[in-house]
Amino acid sequence: MPIPDEFIQELKARTDIADIISGYVPLKKSGRSLMGLCPFHNEKSASFSVSRENGYFHCFGCGVGGDVITFIRRMENLDYVEAIKFLAQRAGMTVPEQGKDDGTGQLKTRIYEANREAARFYHKQLYTPQGKQALEYLRKRRLSEKTIIHFGLGYSPPSRYELVNHLKSKGFTAAEMIQANLANQSKKGYPFDRFSDRVMFPIIDLRGNVIAFGGRIMSDIKPKYLNTAETPVFNKSRNLFALQFAKNKAEGQLILVEGYMDVIALHQAGFENAIATLGTALTQEQALIIKRYCDEVVICYDADEAGQKATQRAINILRPTGLKVKVLTVPNGKDPDEFIKSYGDQGSARFRMLLEKSGNDIEYRLDKLRTGFNTDITEQRVEFLTRAAELVATIENPVEQDVYITRLAKELEVEKSAFDRLVRKNARKAAAQQMKTMQRDVIKELSGRNDRMNTDKSYNLRAANAEEALIAIMILNPDAAEKICKEVDPKVFVTAFNRRIYEILHTRTENGQEISMSDISGDFSVDEMSRIARMLAARPKENDPLGSADEYIRVLEEESEKLTPEQIAAADNDTIMEQLRKMKEKKQ
Ligand code: UTP
Ligand code: MN
Repeated sequence: MPIPDEFIQELKARTDIADIISGYVPLKKSGRSLMGLCPFHNEKSASFSVSRENGYFHCFGCGVGGDVITFIRRMENLDYVEAIKFLAQRAGMTVPEQGKDDGTGQLKTRIYEANREAARFYHKQLYTPQGKQALEYLRKRRLSEKTIIHFGLGYSPPSRYELVNHLKSKGFTAAEMIQANLANQSKKGYPFDRFSDRVMFPIIDLRGNVIAFGGRIMSDIKPKYLNTAETPVFNKSRNLFALQFAKNKAEGQLILVEGYMDVIALHQAGFENAIATLGTALTQEQALIIKRYCDEVVICYDADEAGQKATQRAINILRPTGLKVKVLTVPNGKDPDEFIKSYGDQGSARFRMLLEKSGNDIEYRLDKLRTGFNTDITEQRVEFLTRAAELVATIENPVEQDVYITRLAKELEVEKSAFDRLVRKNARKAAAQQMKTMQRDVIKELSGRNDRMNTDKSYNLRAANAEEALIAIMILNPDAAEKICKEVDPKVFVTAFNRRIYEILHTRTENGQEISMSDISGDFSVDEMSRIARMLAARPKENDPLGSADEYIRVLEEESEKLTPEQIAAADNDTIMEQLRKMKEKKQ
């Protein structure tokens, strides 16, 4: 454990999970717990619960959960030690030095430092003779000096050793350069520059750290852009290009474009609310991050087929978060960068006009849909209206929905009430469908199939359920914990994931240490913490925890004597006979 136990105890005493979470999500009292709208998935009725008394949260909708440290890890995208620091600062405490010595935290700090140094190095290269060509390239793409500096653009020299040598002179090790993905490793084990002869775009997170780079080749060689791969500080599906600037300029709206150059051109033209994904399709995580900074997104992807497909996909990801979505299509197959550039001084004004004309996503989709039908022909008109009703049924705001119903009925000359019924039927169908998927998920869940965390659960359902109950009883009732530890050896636990949890609870209890959720938070990933929180949330209010514990212990002992499927397959005849004899004995 990187952080001393006493420190965690003090932090626990000074931190109230309900206070912290209320800072992000409004909570209302409901029985013994507090309820609110889950910040980790989109929902309209509250299924996110917080137990102040037991120090954990759990969402009955999406299954996310954990203690207050886990909450901060998820919400602020921090690792364990960083989350502790974050909470300690609020509680007026300073994390002791040894706590900062957590290996991963230190590596991350080094990677941030190496990246920053690399960004500085690349930028300076622009103003050297070998970087002249790159600077000219940027100027040819109409970027001003101010823009180049604002975005910290740079150039990676062609030699493949200059950055490595520079970082070495600044005290960085080969391992650090490789882990930062600034260098690759040669067959002989030496590091060499990952980026060579490219224009460099630093990617900066919301806290101002350089987390990655995109590098554009200046010729037609592929790949056009080379990006930093996944590193301990860089997850491309959780970050957005230029959000560190755009979040302060959003005023309720962000413009989502495809490329780095589009973002930069837009910012230079005065649209500082433009952002882009990092060379991949928009993810749900990114959508939720976007939602923190605005309530309307204008998607402005390339006009080509790929761009239009990506637009549809982005709409489907953005809308469920409750964001308003508009679509701006740049005319003549241009991307926003090319459009603005092609009009020189007028580029900005013209783009503003496009922005003001951009329609919302339903409008966009209805337009697209309509091009596929000749609505003068009755059958096709009916077909179009049927499909349109499906679309209009997805509009959540009833006023907005009525606007479309009225308009479409009028345009296609059908009775409004008839079209209205069609829309409603579709809405009901969609709701029923959703209910079915939810039921299916629940069934899957209960059967232990599809359980990626506890993979051996489905073969040992009875044992796993008893194990989970025992774990929950222990965490929720410290008195029961001692008794359970005396009676149950960790070896009795059948499933590996639950055994690992029990081993930690067991050791801590034997050492006289506490076992609340925050006490074990450092031992588990955020997803694992969700699972443990779910075990707690599944327990009814216990009148007789010791009595229930006894029952589960008995189940577990019975189950642990049974052979596993692998053992059954591998055992010799004598073992199997012996097992059968035991089972018979039990039945009598
Ligand atoms: P585009 O090919 O549309 O490039 O890719 P662009 O932004 O218009 O670039 P310029 O104007 O030719 O310089 C859009 C985005 O997709 C990612 C990059 O993030 C790029 O900005 N991409 C593209 C890659 O990651 N790798 C590639 O090889 C190409
Ligand atoms: Mn472009």
